[in-house]
Amino acid sequence: LSLPLGFYSSQSYVLDDKQGLGRVFDGIGGLSGGGATSRLLVNYAEPYRSQILDYLFKPDFGASLHILKVEIGGDAQTTDGTEPSHMHYENDENYFRGYEWWLMKEAKKRNPNITLIGLPWAFPGWVGHGKNWPYDFPDITAAYVVNWILGAKQYHDLDIQYVGIWNERNFDSKYIKLLRYTLDKNGLERVRIIASDNLWEPIALSLLLDPELSRAVDVIGAHYPGTTTVSDALKTQKKLWSSEDYSTFNDEVGGGCWARILNQNYVNGHMTATISWNLVASYYEKLPFGRDGLMTAEEPWSGNYVVESPVWITAHTTQFSQPGWTYLQTVGQLAQGGSYIALTDGKGNLTVVIETMTHDHSVCIRPPLPVFNVTSQNATFLLKGSFASIKELQVWRSQFNFRTKNPSFFEKLTPLKLLDGSFTLNLVEDEVYTLTTITTGRKGSHPDPPPSARFPKIYKDNFNVRKYPPFSEAPNFADQTGVFENYVNMTDPGPHTFTLRQVITERPVTWATDADQTISVIGDYQWHNLMVTCDVFMENTKTGGVFIAARVDKGGQSVRSAKGIFFWVFADGTYKVTSDLGQYVILTAVFAYDPSLLQGQSALGLLDGNPLWNNTVVPSPKNGWAAIGTHSFELAQFDNFVVVAE
Ligand code: GAL
Ligand code: CA
Repeated sequence: LSLPLGFYSSQSYVLDDKQGLGRVFDGIGGLSGGGATSRLLVNYAEPYRSQILDYLFKPDFGASLHILKVEIGGDAQTTDGTEPSHMHYENDENYFRGYEWWLMKEAKKRNPNITLIGLPWAFPGWVGHGKNWPYDFPDITAAYVVNWILGAKQYHDLDIQYVGIWNERNFDSKYIKLLRYTLDKNGLERVRIIASDNLWEPIALSLLLDPELSRAVDVIGAHYPGTTTVSDALKTQKKLWSSEDYSTFNDEVGGGCWARILNQNYVNGHMTATISWNLVASYYEKLPFGRDGLMTAEEPWSGNYVVESPVWITAHTTQFSQPGWTYLQTVGQLAQGGSYIALTDGKGNLTVVIETMTHDHSVCIRPPLPVFNVTSQNATFLLKGSFASIKELQVWRSQFNFRTKNPSFFEKLTPLKLLDGSFTLNLVEDEVYTLTTITTGRKGSHPDPPPSARFPKIYKDNFNVRKYPPFSEAPNFADQTGVFENYVNMTDPGPHTFTLRQVITERPVTWATDADQTISVIGDYQWHNLMVTCDVFMENTKTGGVFIAARVDKGGQSVRSAKGIFFWVFADGTYKVTSDLGQYVILTAVFAYDPSLLQGQSALGLLDGNPLWNNTVVPSPKNGWAAIGTHSFELAQFDNFVVVAE
């Protein structure tokens, strides 16, 4: 078929509820964690921090998310850092660590109906009894997870509605059943289980073969499903969710990816929820997967943040439909490419979302995207059944305009008057439309945030945050192995009562390849010439070891191979200088402690003001973060941290 130039292809599509409806919609969400993706958000000053939260959660404002999924911190590296556990040790319980509790409360403040989900990536070492595996003692693991849910309620009045198993790792049927049993036993019958946050299989087949397992699981959550599902999953009759998706750089192509999958996850894969990894890119951009969030807030020191296109793409669906609404059966692909979905509240309201994203403008990070074509087209929608009498629809439009590089997002157009129960749109490539009976939509805005700026060149922290610090972690430190917490050292009445303490004492049940040392990075990745100073205290008086470092080039899953210049001091009175965290390359080694000075090609280290080593030639890398850490999983304290960078 060839169309004469200048003419659009025309096709009509029926929107009808006469033959019944499709699946119940469960919402669109964002994921904080997996890991440490909101780390820098908490350090933003007001009013910027609240503004960012408004763009994410406030109804009829921005992304207006329906779902917030968070990591159940496991003290281990889970992509962009570690998140603290509520139980570092077997006899330890603390429900005020980290920032996920705070984030859930902020989300709920704005949207009391938000759905909350928790999922572990890693577990403290004691849960595995020394093995890198959480299922040998399933009763311990279940109690550990259920404690987190109980703590959420008891200390924060948060009702966690769904809980998962082990992110993108094996599941264990016995454990899932025991988790169900433990939830019920604790009065948490209302908490539903998602499994297995990995591929559709083998969980779908396992549910089909094991009725008891099937009774325990409510939702099959698949990751990065590429908008499709498998027949076993459909056969289970369970809710199907894309429980983690997106993870794409949040430029306009990222927005295009998000637009396409939000519609097509239902159209092609019958998925009724889609959750973005991640919620907000609030981690140092040079960590893995920089800017893979719905928006960017990675500069607490300047207050600058960016509301990126995925926020407005989300609004096209979230502001005009709610969990509990139902998809129509009459959804599908458009004749010349693109897709349409429709949702109703069952009370006469109708929301239609149409996307015409082209292939190259909607590629997501994974899986590979098969070739398809999208061209301009006229689409006529015929409203039937209970929608036949609709007289007016509100119209919201986003145009990516890749050619002119002049996009317009979430623009309210003149409402459409319907005469004969139908409307026609001239669709071009790379557009998103919402047509809806809902009149409350709004493109919210706050005044522009301050301009972007580099991390301050002179930075000091004495960790003197008396008694009840709002967060357990010190601003801007991004733990990459181990957990560094504000600490009150009762045994030191003097200058070091308030310190930063590394608290993890054994290797966790890991999700990624944590280092054998602990490390927290901070600052500007471009730092080249700088001085790092820090008071250190080894609690392990015989075998302890700590370091301060500069030009640290890697974190996240690559933390084990981090290079830089590391100045180590040990409790036995020796010191060394290495060009890597793993200490494979030793530059200088002999005898004792403290600050270090880096200049040009060479470095020097001082202890208590006396030079220990100098003119040590520093090999690559040329730049990177500053860092502190310990030689093993051991207790150590840090105080009066100072960086002076050139
Ligand atoms: C997922 C994982 C996330 C994050 C993401 C990055 O597979 O669950 O924690 O690592 O990949 O794309
Ligand atoms: Ca102090």
